[in-house]
Amino acid sequence: MSRPETLTAIYPGSFDPITKGHEDIIQRTLRMVDRLVVAVAHTSTQVKRGLFSVDERVALIRSVFEDEDRVVVTSFEGLLVTFARAQEATIVIRGLRAVSDFEYELQMAQMNQELWPDFQTIFLAPEVDFSFLSSSLVREVAELGGDVSRFVSPPVRAALRRKLKR
Ligand code: PNS
Repeated sequence: MSRPETLTAIYPGSFDPITKGHEDIIQRTLRMVDRLVVAVAHTSTQVKRGLFSVDERVALIRSVFEDEDRVVVTSFEGLLVTFARAQEATIVIRGLRAVSDFEYELQMAQMNQELWPDFQTIFLAPEVDFSFLSSSLVREVAELGGDVSRFVSPPVRAALRRKLKR
């Protein structure tokens, strides 16, 4: 398989909300590819409901990356490989924070490879400072009145305040 002229990667996830750990992975990816599609998944397959709607999550990621024209932010439904193909993205990026992430991530990577053999998963390690960070912990800390300003960018912090009426 030859390398496409414009190398596009996709970074899928829940992003409820985007954290500085996600931002770090996005910045690292931009050093390797020409274009990055950040894709917020509609979680119809998951039982849990999010704090932010999918549209709100997309809007927050856009506001964090408003100065980066190589980042395209959107949402998707259904299979990741189908959406990635439509976006001409041949690489999927996933962040690996700890060994505990690995089993699930490897399973997903291998399933995606079965579904589309030309789709490659690249795992990136975030900066050590962000290795403990997750959207769910940010939500919990914010919901309990803690300061999340070290973990999320200002638009996300403001949105958390509005959502939680603090
Ligand atoms: O941030 P998350 O919740 O860990 O992201 C998981 C996500 C959205 C990347 C994963 O659930 C996914 O790819 N969903 C799309 C449906 C799909 O393609 N499922 C098969 C993947 S093996």
